[in-house]
Amino acid sequence: MNNNSLAKKVETQAAPASCAPTTAVASAAPGALRNEIKRMLIEQNAVLVAHYYTAPELQDLADETGGLVADSLEMARFGHAHAAKTLVVAGVRFMGETAKILNPEKRVLMPDLDATCSLDVGCPADEFARFCDAHPRRTVVVYANTSAAVKARADWVVTSGIAVKLVDYLAKRGETILWAPDRYLGDYVRKVTGADMVLWQGACVVHEEFKADLLRVLRRQHPDAAVLVHPESPAGVIEQADVVGSTTGIIDAARQLSARKFIVATDSGILHKLRQAAPEKIFLEAPTAGAGATCESCARCPWMAMNSLEKLYDVLKYGRHEVVIDESVRRRAMLPIKRLIGFAQAQTAAPAVEDDARVAACR
Ligand code: 13P
Ligand code: SF4
Repeated sequence: MNNNSLAKKVETQAAPASCAPTTAVASAAPGALRNEIKRMLIEQNAVLVAHYYTAPELQDLADETGGLVADSLEMARFGHAHAAKTLVVAGVRFMGETAKILNPEKRVLMPDLDATCSLDVGCPADEFARFCDAHPRRTVVVYANTSAAVKARADWVVTSGIAVKLVDYLAKRGETILWAPDRYLGDYVRKVTGADMVLWQGACVVHEEFKADLLRVLRRQHPDAAVLVHPESPAGVIEQADVVGSTTGIIDAARQLSARKFIVATDSGILHKLRQAAPEKIFLEAPTAGAGATCESCARCPWMAMNSLEKLYDVLKYGRHEVVIDESVRRRAMLPIKRLIGFAQAQTAAPAVEDDARVAACR
């Protein structure tokens, strides 16, 4: 998708939700807004779960109110385990849908239901079903950045934090894989595991913009910097990484590596948490477009940016933007997500798990 068509898409998708009238409080000073949101979270037995790419004020609010700022896997796990009756998910649509799929009895609200993801948009359920039909013997593994309907067709759902481990596990059982939708992450997983994989050709509009040649130049200018890369990036960028990881993996690496300086190839929203996690270290954004480029959304997900304090206020005040999923789709989509959670738990308990029984137990 080029930047013009992306801008058009965002414009079109943003319209309905942003047209909702904002109240006096929603246009008040940020302090008053934050206090009012905090009050409503308690009053409504609600918890705020935010992704690392959302605005700093949303991340801080989640931290201050007993919620969570995390990657997509942890967001799903936290929401599932939490006792709150309402989950408020600040992120993109698939994250809210995952929360609803796992927690049908809870109310799941999002600041903006039109906040989607290019991977989700680029993998329509009907086309994906035809792709699966063309490869009936393959185990279907889909990335979490997909619609509920696509997940409903999958055997497994994965996040970037666990994709390599899961595909390695399946390959060792002799399974061949149909992977969707991110072709860069799929290619990376295939190289690391050696698994037999056919790939859907989707991409993230943010990570696809990182440029390998410009990264080489920046590394020459900062030879002391370690390079941290999200695996949705192109192969030439991944090849230069000291650490390839999910958003949580990137933050952990910045904390743990001895380097004082890092070049970071993922959405720049993560810089807020990186600076909190390692305030004494220096973080440089990996280069996206070359000199003279006009792209204004480089390294910034346009859909994550649709989340705001004002919208969060309105959502709690008026119960707007509740995630609703067809029950038969939800039930089917829940199975591969529960498998993911069970597999992730087994990995935490015994990282070198080879034991089919552990995973079979969560099927
Ligand atoms: P994580 O699973 O690493 O949070 O990534 C989600 C995402 O959308 C990355 O672009
Ligand atoms: Fe989707 Fe990319 Fe935005 Fe992540 S950063 S939500 S993969 S468009």
